[in-house]
Amino acid sequence: NPQAIIFDLDGVITDTAHLHFLAWRQVAGEIGIAIDEAFNDSLKGISRGESLQRILRHGGKTGAFSPEACAQLAERKNGLYVHSLRQLTVNSVLPGIRELLMTLWEERIPVGLASVSLNAPAILQALDLSACFDFCANAALISRSKPDPEIFLAACSGLGVDPKQCIGIEDAQAGIDAINACGMLSVGIGTGLNGAGLQLPATEFLTWPCLSAFWQHDK
Ligand code: G6P
Ligand code: MG
Repeated sequence: NPQAIIFDLDGVITDTAHLHFLAWRQVAGEIGIAIDEAFNDSLKGISRGESLQRILRHGGKTGAFSPEACAQLAERKNGLYVHSLRQLTVNSVLPGIRELLMTLWEERIPVGLASVSLNAPAILQALDLSACFDFCANAALISRSKPDPEIFLAACSGLGVDPKQCIGIEDAQAGIDAINACGMLSVGIGTGLNGAGLQLPATEFLTWPCLSAFWQHDK
């Protein structure tokens, strides 16, 4: 068995990517930048501050705002986003995920979280999943967004496991690249991900028998 399984949050455990999009679209619109869902895909796994920089670049406004103004824009986005998180309930967990977490607990396989979202603990709590995670990497201690492996390495080190003996699960290209960069086995959820060791179309296909077979085949 793998020593641990490490999950991304947004797009793997719950679908908050759309809520991030709505909040950023509002803030970007207020400074005259239009963004669409396709552009939003490129923000998955990217920290709040770095997301803002990408939006400014997208709108041709790189350098147009002082660091203080940028901090205010990021804070405004987060206020809108946190407000929208109120709609999350225990029913907002993506299909199959709660069952998988229960099985991993029964199998005594440690579970970690590798999300660069500072809101991750509150989200897990809203979904009533906090107790399913043995360790959540603290995004506040991370200085580089995915595709840098830093957040996955922090999760492995917190769990006391060897990355090469772990599986990471992601829905974003930057996340798959981060997992592969630490020598973990990568599982991609969705389509169009390059370099995923195993690719599944949706979370409902993510089961322990499937992960276990993947592990035994590739190790
Ligand atoms: C995740 C999401 C990103 C988001 C980042 C920071 O990686 O995929 O879209 O920007 O977390 O989230 P936060 O809640 O701290 O703004
Ligand atoms: Mg994600």
